[in-house]
Amino acid sequence: MIIGVPTEVKNNESRVGLTPSSVQKIVSSGHNVLIQKNAGANIGFFDDQYLSSGAKILDSAEDVYKSSEMIVKVKEPIPDEYSYLRDDLTLFTYLHLAGDPENAKRLIDTGVTGIAYETVTAADGSMPLLAPMSTIAGQLAFVVGSYHLLKHNKGKGVMIGKMEDIEPRIVTVVGAGVAGTQSISKALDNNALVKVLDTSESKLQALEKEFGSKNIEYIISTNDSVQTSINDSDLVIGSVYVVGKEAPKVVSKDMLISMKPGTVMVDVSIDQGGCFESSKPTTHDNPTFVKNDIVHYCVTNMPGAVPLTATEALNKVTLSYIENLANKGIDKALSEDKHLRNGLNIQHGTITHQGVKDSLEKF
Ligand SMILES: NC(=O)c1ccc[n+]([C@@H]2O[C@H](COP(=O)([O-])OP(=O)(O)OC[C@H]3O[C@@H](n4cnc5c(N)ncnc54)[C@H](O)[C@@H]3O)[C@@H](O)[C@H]2O)c1
Repeated sequence: MIIGVPTEVKNNESRVGLTPSSVQKIVSSGHNVLIQKNAGANIGFFDDQYLSSGAKILDSAEDVYKSSEMIVKVKEPIPDEYSYLRDDLTLFTYLHLAGDPENAKRLIDTGVTGIAYETVTAADGSMPLLAPMSTIAGQLAFVVGSYHLLKHNKGKGVMIGKMEDIEPRIVTVVGAGVAGTQSISKALDNNALVKVLDTSESKLQALEKEFGSKNIEYIISTNDSVQTSINDSDLVIGSVYVVGKEAPKVVSKDMLISMKPGTVMVDVSIDQGGCFESSKPTTHDNPTFVKNDIVHYCVTNMPGAVPLTATEALNKVTLSYIENLANKGIDKALSEDKHLRNGLNIQHGTITHQGVKDSLEKF
């Protein structure tokens, strides 16, 4: 198979679909890999390393797309890239179609086959290709949240940290999956009082086994319990996910009114459309906005801030899937593995994933 890796073009996105070491493994199985010039240069993966791994370097994204059968990327294509997509091309990448319904429709119309990392499943029901980026985003959510609580960042001017004889600050995490668990852990390490909300009772029970009951409350997520928790909080992290679907809105605009000015809200779920009604996507260049005196951080590619770590972590999990797709061919690989097939979101202009379909039908 001919596999192409274009340079990522989203704001502050230096991750790359394949590392030189992944390329070497794929080429050794008899496949061809085309890398766009300088695709990995920002994170120290230079063209000469890709050449020594057996890849070919092409000058432009257009050249890479035109000559490839499968494109391995990180982020969803942006509209500038749609003209490169076609019916006999497969994209293996994050797609987050429910997060941007308007552009999703245009992408689907290209006829491209899209296998989305974020809906590929494992036998235990987890999301193996989403998990490493959620692990990163969950940790970063606490870091950027703390940073934006600084007064000069329009936050409350409080420190989530260790101070003797001073009441701990309060961090609420709504959605306690992979990302949420990382945020909880960081918040506890920094002496916060943590409120964890989730709709899944079994998830909360499992977390209690992991984190105990010191400085942490486990709460079933309802409108009332979310409101009560966020009223007292300094930092609110939203990390809910319903596979493939637009994120449920766990904090409405009205709920902001009774929160304290300078509270920071980090919407990790913004790539799926955001779980706070007041959220809108932001970039690493301009990551926050203030609404009702509440600082909102809504960056859709948080792991783009740590692109080397994120690229290595992503390749660790994607490589075996890429090898499988290349060795068997797209159709056979999909037909033989129902968990990979759960990743199939679009094909020949049709939405094939029920969760994505449910969300996009509303628009
Ligand atoms: N912004 C970014 O750069 C970035 C990076 C990585 C991941 N993400 C996103 O973070 C989100 C979380 O990912 P994850 O891997 O942690 O998901 P996950 O499936 O591991 O966890 C999601 C949790 O949300 C809970 N949940 C679902 N609906 C809920 C509701 N209405 N109220 C409360 N809890 C609810 C689920 O029970 C589950 O525990 C996803 O949308 C993912 O795409 C964003």
